[in-house]
Order: sequence, then structure tokens, then C-alpha cells
Amino acid sequence: MIKNNQRTLGASGLVVPAMGVGIASWGEKQLGYGRMYTRDDVTQAYRACLDAGLNFFDTAEMYGQGESERLLGECRRQDGRPILNATKFSTSSIVTPSFTRSSPRALLHALDGSLQRLGVDCIDLYQLHVPPAPHKLDAYMDVLAEAVRAGKVRAVGLCNFNATLLRQAHARLAQHGIPLASTMVGYNLLRRYPETNGVLDACRELNVALLAFAPLAEGVLSGKYRTGTPIPGAYRMLWMIEKLDLFGETRGSVSTVRRWFSKHRPAQREKLEPLFVVLEEIARAHEKTIAQVALNWLMSGDADIIPIPGAKNVRQANENAGTLDWRLTKEEYDRINQTEIATR
Ligand SMILES: NC(=O)c1ccc[n+]([C@@H]2O[C@H](COP(=O)([O-])OP(=O)(O)OC[C@H]3O[C@@H](n4cnc5c(N)ncnc54)[C@H](OP(=O)(O)O)[C@@H]3O)[C@@H](O)[C@H]2O)c1
Repeated sequence: MIKNNQRTLGASGLVVPAMGVGIASWGEKQLGYGRMYTRDDVTQAYRACLDAGLNFFDTAEMYGQGESERLLGECRRQDGRPILNATKFSTSSIVTPSFTRSSPRALLHALDGSLQRLGVDCIDLYQLHVPPAPHKLDAYMDVLAEAVRAGKVRAVGLCNFNATLLRQAHARLAQHGIPLASTMVGYNLLRRYPETNGVLDACRELNVALLAFAPLAEGVLSGKYRTGTPIPGAYRMLWMIEKLDLFGETRGSVSTVRRWFSKHRPAQREKLEPLFVVLEEIARAHEKTIAQVALNWLMSGDADIIPIPGAKNVRQANENAGTLDWRLTKEEYDRINQTEIATR
């Protein structure tokens, strides 16, 4: 029986909690792993997530060059409780640079690497991290179908696909009798493109779950960088494929957070203040935090939107988990939307 705080990923039959846990930062030195947070931190975060019923973890072979998968595997072995793992294949390989990935069949080799690092025989959700060249898309879906038939993958997902390629992938998998379970895109209160670029509509029409990455806008939506708070000097380097694009202005390889919240751009922080005031007011009414309101907003919009917030430590894990047991009222949801639109 599906409970309130559970979701089925499309027609795949895979039932997951209504919120996942993103572990791109685990083992990722570029995000401060080993300096700003440690293996103990992520191990405690892992246990806290399971204690709170969050057992759906999203990793990728490229996170920490395989270290994120390895850490997840070790946490699972040490803790012993069952989890659901989602990982990703990238068409360009960082983990095994010598291995050519020009052929879609390279996916099968990469999959074996992920299985080994995770210490499992089957991956619950295996995702393409980025869309391949369109002329190779069908071939990738055929290889993914082969992996499902081999029992190494339970459900298939995509990441960073536009609506056209999503539909093509869905149709090709359907020829194999395999439903497309999910697609993952950047989606948060400050980045709402999935609502207008056709991706959310395609998900609804085709019964595909939308996994929202960067649901906290990389921490910005916790309110910790609000006007009046000190800006961390060298914040962190982001290497996301699809950057946050606050107000449609920035693109490129430099951290958006750093750009937006640099000392030279105080006006940008000011611009977000009306939204934070509303989020804070609603948070206070529910005895919740701004981050919990921002995550709840995503979950209140559509039952098939599943946020995947990252957590580097037990405090963040517990705070994010505290989003599950309540919902915004319709009035609060509408008020946030109206304020966000006025803020643009
Ligand atoms: N498919 C893709 O292409 C793709 C791309 C990006 C991400 N993802 C997935 O989505 C997951 C989440 O994305 P993300 O980590 O980039 O962004 P996010 O979830 O918006 O932000 C996570 C970061 O915000 C901070 N944070 C988390 N909880 C907090 C809280 N309660 N209060 C204050 N700060 C908090 C932490 O960083 P600090 O402590 O440093 O502030 C944390 O690493 C990733 O882990 C990954 O699994 C997928």
C-alpha cells in the first residue's frame, strides 16, 4: 500500500519516499569534503536520513570520481538497513578516463563499476546523467533495456533532458515494454523553467516522476545568505551541468551562488528579500525553517515532484527530513508563488 509520504516513480512500480537525499557532495573534495565536512558527518547524515524514513539516495559515478557511490555502499553495509539507490551514467567518463564512451555499450561497463562501488547486484534507478547526441538516444535506450532484462537495473531514469528528447526516450523504452520512471532537472523556487519549457507537462502526460535537483538552490533557499549575513569568502566550486539560472541572468562555469552573493552585487541579495520575508513568516507559523518551507513548496505543487536535497551533515539531514510531516496550505502556496513572481 502506498503511504502519504511515498511516491511511485511513474509506471515503474518503484516506490520511494516523497523526498530523496542527494549525495553529490559526499566524497567530493571540490565541495569541501575532507575539509569542511568529513566521513563521520556523512555517515551520521546517512543514519539520520534512515531514522527519518528517507532511504532513497541519489548519487552518480562522477560524484567524487566514484567516491560518493563507494561511501553510500559502505554506509549501507555498516548500517544494515535496506535502501533504494539511484545512480547515473555519464556519457563522458571521469571515473575511468581511459575507457572510451563513444559507444552506447560503454554504459554496461560503467554500470558494472557502479554496482561494484555500491556493493549491490541491482541498481534501483539507473539514470542517464546528460542526454547523449540525439542520433544515439535510441541506442542508449536499447542498452538500458538490456540492463533491465539482465536484472542489473530495476527502473530507468533521465537527467537534464528537454521535453522533446524525453518523449523520444519514453517512446523507445516503451517499445521494449519498459516505462520511463523519472527525469531529474534543476527545479526550485528560484528556478522554475520546468514549468514553462514543457518538461513538467511531458512528465504529467507520460506519467514520469520529476526528481528536482538543487531544490534548495544550493543552500540559498535556506536563507543563510540573506542580506545582512556575511558572505563566505571562497564559497565552493560548482560543477553542475545545468547551472542555477536565477532570474535567467547567469550561465557559465563560475558558481552562481558566488556570483549572486558576491560583495559586488548586494542588489541581488536585496532582490530576494521579499521572498525570504514571506518564507520566514510561513515558517514561523508552522514552527519550521525557511529551508523546510522552500522544500515543502516543491512537494505541495504536484504529487509527482520529488525533491532531492543534498545534505552534508546530520543537522541538514534532519532539517530537510522535517519537511515530510506537514504541508503548506493552499493560501500559503499561492502567496509564495505570487511573491516569487513579483521578485523576478
Ligand atoms: N542530475 C543532475 O545533473 C544533478 C545536478 C545537480 C545535483 N543533482 C542531485 O541533486 C542533489 C541536490 O542538489 P545540490 O546538492 O546541488 O543542491 P541543493 O540540494 O539545493 O543544496 C544542497 C546544499 O545546500 C546546503 N544545505 C542542505 N541542506 C541545508 C539546510 N537544511 N540548511 C542550510 N543549508 C543546507 C548544503 O551545502 P552547504 O553546507 O555548503 O551550504 C548542501 O550541500 C545532489 O546531491 C545530486 O544528487 C543532480
